[in-house]
Amino acid sequence: MAVLDSSKLVAALRGAFARNTGREALLSQAAERIQSAGPPYTSVYLYMLHGNELVLEAFAGRETEHTRIPVGVGVCGTAVASGMDQNVPDVRSVENYLACNAWTRSELVVLIRRGDLILGQIDIDSDLPDPFTPDEEAEVKRVADALGILL
Ligand code: SME
Repeated sequence: MAVLDSSKLVAALRGAFARNTGREALLSQAAERIQSAGPPYTSVYLYMLHGNELVLEAFAGRETEHTRIPVGVGVCGTAVASGMDQNVPDVRSVENYLACNAWTRSELVVLIRRGDLILGQIDIDSDLPDPFTPDEEAEVKRVADALGILL
């Protein structure tokens, strides 16, 4: 069983969209609701692609100094450059990892796509080692896919 229940979250996002909630609030809601699932969701960052840069548009949890990340840099930039989600069980094993704090042990990046286009990503930091099972990742992907339609 996954910790995150994407069905409630996606329903809430669709409801907010139907009430004309703007992009900023939708992204904040997604970040806050994912993080409120609790461990392993320590911090959640919504980075959106602006040209060749990922820009932090919403987050819940710890603050980060990485508010803009060039495509190709770090785990986040690698996801965009490769077009592949990144599940990093141990961040200490990644050479180009961009550290935000001393406590993060693992990271999951799921791309937000609209068709072939990459709009941005959901980036999750966890203080737990290797917590993102295929089921857990699938729940996050459902949220990302909903955002790809609603944004
Ligand atoms: N660790 C990321 C940077 C973003 S922070 O986790 C919020 C990376 O290596 O790209």
